[in-house]
Amino acid sequence: MPLYKINDENIRQAAACIIRGGLAAFPTETVYGLGADAFNPDALALIFEIKNRPRFDPLIIHIAALNTLEKVADLSPLDISTRKKIDALTEKFWPGPLTLILPKQQKVPDLATSGLPTVAVRLPSLASARQLIALSSGAVAAPSANPFGFLSPTSAEHVQAMLGDKVEIILDGGPTQVGLESTVLDICGAQQRILRPGGIPKEAIESLIGPISENTALDDTAISPGMMKNHYAPRAGLETHDLETLFTIPAENGGAFLFFDGASCKQWQKKQKQPPDTLCKVLSETGNITEAAARFFQSLHELDKPEISRIYAQIAPEEGLGRAINDRLQRATHI
Ligand code: TXA
Ligand code: MG
Repeated sequence: MPLYKINDENIRQAAACIIRGGLAAFPTETVYGLGADAFNPDALALIFEIKNRPRFDPLIIHIAALNTLEKVADLSPLDISTRKKIDALTEKFWPGPLTLILPKQQKVPDLATSGLPTVAVRLPSLASARQLIALSSGAVAAPSANPFGFLSPTSAEHVQAMLGDKVEIILDGGPTQVGLESTVLDICGAQQRILRPGGIPKEAIESLIGPISENTALDDTAISPGMMKNHYAPRAGLETHDLETLFTIPAENGGAFLFFDGASCKQWQKKQKQPPDTLCKVLSETGNITEAAARFFQSLHELDKPEISRIYAQIAPEEGLGRAINDRLQRATHI
């Protein structure tokens, strides 16, 4: 399947494809999504089939403007304080990488929400994504455009390699800016909490609405159905360690190393007995967390080569976007 460069004509074609019940892959600021009309159950079923995704894992519905939120969510059952928090969050972080879990509008198909009374909604900040959504149904269900459980796509080429034979149109907007998925925030439950750390850090949300908790249980599928362990996984085995432990792991055939910053990589290389020609990647030379997040999936895609049997990854600082990196690393771990 050829890639379609982002321009008005190709966006119109992708929108037409979604309107007639097909699927189009498109970039957002986080990762590439596989889009379908959120109100077309047949198109939604196609998403689950193509991704090989379990039906109990609900989708995020993407809207193009705040004033279309009521098409998919019904805020009327919520108390005033929760509604104020939602207003503050949408004003500050939308458009952007924050997904809100809200009571669903009745007409949203059960397939989109896996039968839950809530719906996940996001207003992406990439202008071309909003243009596509506005030109199609105004509500586009879009999971990450990868087979279920695999590494998320941060470029059109990743989508092409993983789903190219199954998707009608792949819009190519180059590498994504944030590089990690949106933060999923349950704002309407009894306990307000982050279900998936992502592009908007916990600290930024807390500074706006006060303390929230984080659901870090790796297997708590009842709380956020998509958050099972062994997700976002490369084909090669992956282990995560702090730098001290990485020092004890020798460079040898079949191993590859993913360092958070350049200084750590250099220290590790110095500790090796022979100068290693092992494949090493650094997420950010200067240790900049935003840059590291943006390069995270791309680096794992590059390391996940047939000749690599094991990837040893350094844990990121547990702050800001570093939490989201560590979350993805933990879920990619298979020993
Ligand atoms: O950045 C993103 O969010 C990307 C781009 C394409 O927008 N999309 C994405 O979608 O990551 P997906 O399907 O890969 O992840 C959706 C997550 C899953 O963990 C799912 O369980 C959770 O959102 N989710 C969706 N609806 C939910 C609901 N009603 N309650 C709790 N969690 C929900
Ligand atoms: Mg995904």
